[in-house]
Amino acid sequence: MKRLDGRWALVTGASRGVGYQIASALGLEGCRLIVHGRTTEGLAPVRAKLLDLGCEVHALPAELADTSQVDRLIDAVLERIGAPDIVYNNAAIMTPWREAHTTPLDDYRLSFQVNVLAPIRICDRLLGPMRARRWGRIVNVTSGIEHIRELLPYSVSKAALDRYVRDVSPSLEGSGVVMSLLDPGWLRTDMGGEGAPNSVNTVLPGALVPVFLPDESSSGRLVRAQDHRDAGATD
Ligand SMILES: NC(=O)c1ccc[n+]([C@@H]2O[C@H](COP(=O)([O-])OP(=O)(O)OC[C@H]3O[C@@H](n4cnc5c(N)ncnc54)[C@H](OP(=O)(O)O)[C@@H]3O)[C@@H](O)[C@H]2O)c1
Repeated sequence: MKRLDGRWALVTGASRGVGYQIASALGLEGCRLIVHGRTTEGLAPVRAKLLDLGCEVHALPAELADTSQVDRLIDAVLERIGAPDIVYNNAAIMTPWREAHTTPLDDYRLSFQVNVLAPIRICDRLLGPMRARRWGRIVNVTSGIEHIRELLPYSVSKAALDRYVRDVSPSLEGSGVVMSLLDPGWLRTDMGGEGAPNSVNTVLPGALVPVFLPDESSSGRLVRAQDHRDAGATD
């Protein structure tokens, strides 16, 4: 018996990077999975890996900058499995590095669409069914980025997501649904770049800490994955 046997998890941005690690780890723990990315082709490797592990898996593509596609993704999730037990809002974009104070507003718009509005919509629409079942874990992936003016659309979008979690959290007390934030640390992924100090697999086991929080836990906790690295882990 695995710890998450029979649970359904939705992981956005599962086609590569952090999301791929999280989806694989949840699969090893016995989860059935809905993996999301932009395209079916991009999701093929994670789908194949999860099938190899013996998991039930659905791969659902959606462009998160497009609100109608976000809603279609949620509709498809509800239709196929009812509410998931675990929602991992991991997908995000980082708009290009810009000289300070020259950033076009469209960079902010796109960042907010993908990094804030999409995860908020997913939370808002799935919270009701999850609360009705009186069990759920929602993890929104944030960032420790600070003081980099050239990447402000990214950092302010993460700040907005943090605030959403903070202000929703008191209403979840005693509901069985625990909403948390994960800061994965600076990792070598397509987003983090080759110069990042940590390999992508160091996001584990910390990324599962918010999933395994006891039912009586308060929402709003920030888990820093790098604080939970295995002693023998290498970069
Ligand atoms: N890497 C770091 O150092 C670092 C540090 C702090 C926080 N984070 C956070 O960790 C999370 C994962 O980052 P990562 O490094 O794994 O990123 P990544 O390697 O760039 O992967 C991004 C994932 O999000 C999906 N995605 C991107 N834009 C999308 C869009 N417009 N619509 C739908 N899906 C989209 C991608 O799907 P496709 O494959 O289909 O494009 C991919 O699965 C993000 O929330 C990021 O902000 C990362």
